[in-house]
Amino acid sequence: MSTQTVNTQNGTPELALHAVPAKTIYASKKILVLGATSGIAEATCRIWAAKGASLFLVARNADKLAAVAADLKTRGAHYVDTAVADLDDTSTHPELLAHAVNSLTGLDVAYLAHGVLGDQAQAEADFGTAEQILHTNFTAPVSLLTWLANYCVQRHSGVLAVISSVAGDRGRKSNYVYGSSKAGLSAFLGGLRNRVDREGVTVLTIKPGPTKTAMTSSMPGSEKFADVNAVAKSIVAAVDAKKDTLYVPGKWALIMFVLTHIPETIFKKTNT
Ligand SMILES: NC(=O)c1ccc[n+]([C@@H]2O[C@H](COP(=O)([O-])OP(=O)(O)OC[C@H]3O[C@@H](n4cnc5c(N)ncnc54)[C@H](OP(=O)(O)O)[C@@H]3O)[C@@H](O)[C@H]2O)c1
Repeated sequence: MSTQTVNTQNGTPELALHAVPAKTIYASKKILVLGATSGIAEATCRIWAAKGASLFLVARNADKLAAVAADLKTRGAHYVDTAVADLDDTSTHPELLAHAVNSLTGLDVAYLAHGVLGDQAQAEADFGTAEQILHTNFTAPVSLLTWLANYCVQRHSGVLAVISSVAGDRGRKSNYVYGSSKAGLSAFLGGLRNRVDREGVTVLTIKPGPTKTAMTSSMPGSEKFADVNAVAKSIVAAVDAKKDTLYVPGKWALIMFVLTHIPETIFKKTNT
């Protein structure tokens, strides 16, 4: 099985001809992954690769990205191509995304996984830190989704699967800068869904609870956080089912329902 791209005379990358394995319907699924070195994204891609999907992976760390891409090829991905990009640089997004869909020769799923937790204490003291968290977690995804949504609407198809967070459901003193970046993202996705659903495009808002990845490894109690492979399995199922919203693990839907119904007069005195 080949995983090469070839350059035509005008320099445009095209998919090399493959003998398509009759593995599953996933053999023809074209998936773009933004933030492909994220722990959650990598676990999700391992499942997609084993199903024979075609993957275009974007991440900012070239070495990590090459290792992830090599691993996914050995796990059975039908096709893997990569691009190194710092997604904070929104000026590069249109060219990057056009290159990705050209390489995949189409797009079935765009999976946005990149993000930063940031330092809450530092963000309270310094607006520059807060602005950086908001830029990476909100402004950059809005830039990517604007291009991707318009691409999908033109074709009346596609799933835009985006990792937000339960932290966006209610601001808490311990992480309200990160939480507000995700709240903004969740609100944007809700409005986008309302716009594009009638055009045949699915917007999936993924709201993980605390999950064992590099992002949370230094947090107290992180050993009890959700297993990343179980979270990834739920994400793959939600993408297949074209769901609107996924709380993962599922218990977080109930927890956040309760948390968001506590009156402010009481909530402001809690120590969360
Ligand atoms: N883990 C949790 O408990 C949890 C809970 C709710 C939501 N989430 C969300 O889930 C998503 C994935 O996080 P994770 O848990 O898998 O953490 P992770 O392993 O730390 O992944 C975060 C990824 O984002 C990438 N990234 C950050 N800024 C970037 C930029 N400017 N350009 C390109 N890539 C950038 C990082 O790249 P580098 O490796 O190069 O730094 C890293 O690969 C994030 O959106 C996070 O907010 C996580």
